Amino acid sequence: MSRARFISVEGTDGAGKTSVLATIEAWVKAQGEILITTREPGGTPLAEQIRQLLLNSRTDKLDDDAELLLMMAARVQHVRTKIQPALAAGKWVLSDRFYDASYAYQGGGRGLSFERIDQLHYWSIGDFHPDLTILLDVPVEIGQARVAHRGEEKTRFEEEQTAFFERVRQAYLARAAQAPERMFVIDASVDQASVQQAVLALLDDRWS
Ligand code: TYD
Repeated sequence: MSRARFISVEGTDGAGKTSVLATIEAWVKAQGEILITTREPGGTPLAEQIRQLLLNSRTDKLDDDAELLLMMAARVQHVRTKIQPALAAGKWVLSDRFYDASYAYQGGGRGLSFERIDQLHYWSIGDFHPDLTILLDVPVEIGQARVAHRGEEKTRFEEEQTAFFERVRQAYLARAAQAPERMFVIDASVDQASVQQAVLALLDDRWS
């Protein structure tokens, strides 16, 4: 058995993470590995409660720093009680979003300082990183059109304007440029089959 790996998938809202997650799941299982799929914010019962606050709370305006701290609190709980134990038990972990989202949404989107996010990040989970991060990159208008077609009630984030998502997208791309050995950008504006092929090629190239 090879060492268990930790993979995260990122992208602006409507980038098409759901089908890519399914593609990765199938690939890992085909390698004969055990996999757990999880998500952020959330992934454990307590972190899912924090997710509800973050995505849906309408009682009063959530302060930007409080939003960041809640993301981090959920992440600490998720990493320590679910992700790290799974990896230690030899299971692969696939997460729908992880820490890059805090840099993209709270840093890029909300405008919080990246240095501050770094400090909190290292304070909370230290030197713990995904082995591979797939960033699904899509022009903002395309992502927004996909979200609009879902017909679900919008979350606090999905209600943001185009300029917010432009900043999120640029922050994601900047992070990918800084960590080329971990983070791979896949053009997600094309058809699903092409995105799937690109993901499979990446996985094969890295680990087959
Ligand atoms: P997600 O479950 O991916 O929503 P969807 O499936 O509708 O795309 O993510 C929930 C939201 O949380 C998403 O809008 C991005 C946001 N988010 C942050 O702002 N910071 C973070 O650190 C994380 C993990 C997510």
